[in-house]
Amino acid sequence: MDVEITLRVDGRDHRLTVDTRTTLLDALRERLGNTSPKKGCDHGQCGACTILLDGRRALACLALAVAHQGAGIVTAAGLMNGGDGERGESGDGLHPLQRSFIAHDAFQCGYCTPGQICSAVGMLREAAAGWPSAVAKDVNAADVVLDDEEIAERMSGNLCRCAAYANIVPAIADVAHRDEGARR
Ligand code: FES
Ligand code: FES
Repeated sequence: MDVEITLRVDGRDHRLTVDTRTTLLDALRERLGNTSPKKGCDHGQCGACTILLDGRRALACLALAVAHQGAGIVTAAGLMNGGDGERGESGDGLHPLQRSFIAHDAFQCGYCTPGQICSAVGMLREAAAGWPSAVAKDVNAADVVLDDEEIAERMSGNLCRCAAYANIVPAIADVAHRDEGARR
């Protein structure tokens, strides 16, 4: 069955007709031409399709487009120029995590990178809100200290088949530690 829906993607409304079974990932990529979220496994296993849904990281391959009318959908492309609504930057317009991935050479083929960056944005928000992880030393601690072990655990849903983890973790740590410093 086809239905007409409106999706708000990277700050812009898009009206489109979709089959009710269409995933958000297919709606973004195939219908709206937004190829920033990547299709890896299409089964919630790799994280390549990670986007932000109302500020939280989510897997677009496991979400139905019809269920997210009215939601704020942000892709890695939309993070530029403050597209996530919080991190407006002057100059090159890049989100701090995008800039840090470049500075740390945190990718090889780049296929996983948009998902890694959206996931990292969501992960930093979760940590700032005090969400514990499986490796948290103290699950009741108000302040999460994002050491490399914490970052690796919290980013474990995002796979990199080029195995660029040795640079991905420092790229995220750089931004995380700047955020922690700003909160103190
Ligand atoms: S494509 Fe969505 S998790 Fe792999
Ligand atoms: S950089 Fe190639 S999959 Fe991560």
